Amino acid sequence: MSTTGSAEFRTPSPGNNHHALPSHPMTSPPPLDTAAAAREEFQRQFGTSPIGVVFAPGRVNLIGEHTDYNDGFVLPMAIEDGMAAAYRPNGNRVLRIHAREFGETCEVSLEDPTRAIEEFAGWFRYGVGIARTMAAAGHRLAGTDIALASTLPSDAGLSSSAAVELSIARVLAVTGGEPWDPRRAAQIAQQAEHEFIGVACGIMDQMAVACAQAGRALLLDCRSLSTEDVPVPGNAGIVIVYSDVARTLAASAYNDRRAACERAVAAIRQFEPSVRALRDVDAELLDRARTKMDAVAFRRASHVIAENARPAQLASALTKGDLGTAGRLMNDSHASLRDLYEVSSRELDLLVTLALGQPGCHGARLTGAGFGGCIVALVDLTAVAPFSDAIADRYRAATGLQPRVIVSRPAEGVRLL
Ligand code: GLA
Repeated sequence: MSTTGSAEFRTPSPGNNHHALPSHPMTSPPPLDTAAAAREEFQRQFGTSPIGVVFAPGRVNLIGEHTDYNDGFVLPMAIEDGMAAAYRPNGNRVLRIHAREFGETCEVSLEDPTRAIEEFAGWFRYGVGIARTMAAAGHRLAGTDIALASTLPSDAGLSSSAAVELSIARVLAVTGGEPWDPRRAAQIAQQAEHEFIGVACGIMDQMAVACAQAGRALLLDCRSLSTEDVPVPGNAGIVIVYSDVARTLAASAYNDRRAACERAVAAIRQFEPSVRALRDVDAELLDRARTKMDAVAFRRASHVIAENARPAQLASALTKGDLGTAGRLMNDSHASLRDLYEVSSRELDLLVTLALGQPGCHGARLTGAGFGGCIVALVDLTAVAPFSDAIADRYRAATGLQPRVIVSRPAEGVRLL
């Protein structure tokens, strides 16, 4: 069972864990390299060649944090790092998945949908979960062999779980001869995560991984699932810094945040029964209901209501190429997540402070659920290399931890290569 808000496809240690990866600024290897690794792994494990490869990216959220499960707005983008799945139908009623990062192959019969999910290895539950959820939604499934290779650090908050879910879903749609509907696939992946991984996540990660376009961030309305592609200016560097603190022991904190939002909604409904979620509430209405809720619920709701306006504001700033305004919005978001939503950490606050002290940095904030994981910074493209060096050096010197810096252009969502 995953331990964070957004479940992560976990890499056991020792082995290929992120500590072994270079902490130096890096641009991601192109998907083709990851695809080649998946192909080779497939050949080695299954003794034949795959018929195709799917690539599913990770994601970083630019703004709109903890708004998705409040029916609100988010602005994530897919990144160049991700997961490749090489595949081939096997002619049996069996799903077999090999994960290069785990050095392990697991299999499940497609004829036996009742075997308890706890009986499967942690990483394989994503495969079993997505297959069972697709079957329950009426998809035909064909027996398939899959080899996975990933460049996403696990537990870093870059949605390795959504990447594994959607890469497998995409493969199973091909081998089952089913049409591909990215929105529907995102909903199925979210449902699989709720039912089989036990994480009550929102829809942001799965939608970003399923629907993002290259060069664009995805402005998503989490109630209607309508989307708008937002151009990210060519002179904007998106720099992600992993704090080297995994988001462990955070599931209960994530669920606590959700519960506080629900308490706030229940209090507000005494005044406005038409309110369904914090998405429907403005600051004035929240204030009227203040005495009906506990102080924690009020703080959490205050964050959500202010944060919910930021995705559209950031989208507009990016569209105009106004990096100054974009950066300020990110800084406001971080302060709100730290002070009102209380999901930051010493390390994430330090990374944000270090980022803002570097030339060319317009703004920075924690990204994802919080409680560890990554920050994202908006940096002049020309300043990205010195920025990345400086932040990594200073963070390492201050904490002894090994940050990982990922520089990424907005990438395309899950795709057949
Ligand atoms: C995790 C969840 C998302 C979202 C973010 C916080 O990533 O998986 O659904 O709630 O946290 O914005």
